[in-house]
Amino acid sequence: MDNPNGGMGGKTALITGGTSGIGKATAVALAAMGADVVVVGRNQERGEAAVKEIKGQSHSESVELMLADLSAQDEVRRLAEAFLERHDRLDVLANNAGLVQSKRTETPDGIETTLAINHLAPFLLTNLLLDRLKQSAPSRVITVSSEAQRWGNMDFDDLQSTQKYRGFPVYGMTKLANIMFTYELAERLKGTFVTANCLHPGAVSTNFGKNNSGPMTLFFRIAKPFMRSPEQGADTLIWLASSPDVEGVSGKYFSDRKEIEAKKVAYDPATRRKLWEMSEDLTGLKVVA
Ligand SMILES: NC(=O)c1ccc[n+]([C@@H]2O[C@H](COP(=O)([O-])OP(=O)(O)OC[C@H]3O[C@@H](n4cnc5c(N)ncnc54)[C@H](OP(=O)(O)O)[C@@H]3O)[C@@H](O)[C@H]2O)c1
Repeated sequence: MDNPNGGMGGKTALITGGTSGIGKATAVALAAMGADVVVVGRNQERGEAAVKEIKGQSHSESVELMLADLSAQDEVRRLAEAFLERHDRLDVLANNAGLVQSKRTETPDGIETTLAINHLAPFLLTNLLLDRLKQSAPSRVITVSSEAQRWGNMDFDDLQSTQKYRGFPVYGMTKLANIMFTYELAERLKGTFVTANCLHPGAVSTNFGKNNSGPMTLFFRIAKPFMRSPEQGADTLIWLASSPDVEGVSGKYFSDRKEIEAKKVAYDPATRRKLWEMSEDLTGLKVVA
């Protein structure tokens, strides 16, 4: 099999949002390279169908489904517990699940949904799995951000967008949070041989945005012909997960396998620490790297 990124035999990868789009394409590629792949999905039927597809395309039987609705923090905690029980190593954690919502909703924990799924879920899951990542080092945490980060502002007075809600700027804020989380995590993980990087996958034709109606749906329908395939969109994530090129590289934001710059605020340590502390409060997490 063509394996340009190097083997992944004996390695375990956990991929959130592995049932669709970029996450599913990543699962296929890593399984084909020999990794034991665990995909997180929130719906049994969709999850089982995705696993069947991933196994078929990768010619690997080592693909497992774990169910969790990442909007609910107790489900994130249950997912981490179940993973730790079943797997004694974690070489790659791909925080990929994400969404944009045209209308503001709240999760069962009373948190604005985009913030909960796109930022707080990966924040909590990564921290809960950190010891296993350290035991498996060298290991990698990769978070799928977006150039939509440029539309985002970190408003600490209204992180949950109760005063004003607009779908794309709120999405952008959560994607900026992904980058700030990555930069801060990389600092905290110095000397552990666990790396933390993030990426923009490009504009990719997936199920992204289809959970909405009205003008937002129209936007994605018009943009579709100009978008990349999920396989193309997954390329940088797969590279960050598997390539020797990025062994030891940490605290960076990539697009098309090249480092790119984030918004200026992401480089400010005090702002990053503030986001980390607020995220700890919002997830009830006190044990950190
Ligand atoms: N597509 C783009 O143009 C683009 C551009 C920049 C960045 N991104 C980022 O790329 C990542 C992947 O998106 P995609 O384009 O592959 O979209 P997608 O096809 O919609 O996939 C999103 C995945 O996230 C999962 N997910 C959503 N809400 C969840 C929840 N509450 N609990 C558990 N899983 C949940 C979905 O599960 P279900 O199958 O159950 O819905 C799905 O597997 C996202 O973080 C997105 O922000 C995408």
